[in-house]
Amino acid sequence: MSKIKIKSLEEIKRIKKACAIVAFALRETAKEIKPGVSTEYLDKFAERLIRKAGAFPVFIGYRGYKHATCISINQEIVHGIPGKRLLSSGDIVGLDVGAKIDGYCGDTAATFPVGKINKKAQKLLAAGKKALVSAIDKACLGNHLGDISAAVLKCASDHGFSVVRDLYGHGIGSDLHEDPLIPNFGNPKEGPALKPGMVLAIEPMLNVGGSKIKTLDDGWTVVTNDHSLSCHFEHTVLITEREAEILTKNG
Ligand code: MF3
Ligand code: CO
Ligand code: CO
Repeated sequence: MSKIKIKSLEEIKRIKKACAIVAFALRETAKEIKPGVSTEYLDKFAERLIRKAGAFPVFIGYRGYKHATCISINQEIVHGIPGKRLLSSGDIVGLDVGAKIDGYCGDTAATFPVGKINKKAQKLLAAGKKALVSAIDKACLGNHLGDISAAVLKCASDHGFSVVRDLYGHGIGSDLHEDPLIPNFGNPKEGPALKPGMVLAIEPMLNVGGSKIKTLDDGWTVVTNDHSLSCHFEHTVLITEREAEILTKNG
């Protein structure tokens, strides 16, 4: 049974603070993305911003993970480990940033082009962004979790892409991952009803090829089984009496 917490005003205030920090860190680090830059450099850049803001990079220590960010290139879907690899023109790079401050977390991600990318990659990124927007549109009072999930799947399918079915979005609060799990596929009107005070990290993952994934021997990096390109976009949102409030917007 999934138990979805309704956050108090004080908790929401703290989550908002964490979200503003990750949004800022993602936005500023994204400006550093260009051919020839290492993923390790981007990670350290984001980590510095998070710490300067007085927050803790909450991915560090999560199940033994050692970095502030996850950086996933091309066929890597999520949980890519920052390292010596240099970005090349034509790559797409997913940057996922988390932080904790005053005991509460924020989580956000986006996939960016490096230099000039091909048409297929451009279409994938556009569809991924659109999937997140359409999912957030459904994240309102009167709807159910399934409406969010269904919106992601519909957008992906409409654009000829598949969704990852083995990884999920999640509730977020004092823990980085809380109930409920938020699949990127599902049926409208199914699952728990959305209630004001719920805070959700919605994270579509779209693949050019099939849905199937595998984890590399490093124990973290998740890639598409068919080596096709993949993208990931994530916002932390608050369910309200009206439309969802995107807490990780802009920074
Ligand atoms: N940010 C990921 C998510 O969106 C989780 C990363 S956990 C880590 O849920 F340990 F890999 F950093
Ligand atoms: Co994330
Ligand atoms: Co997340």
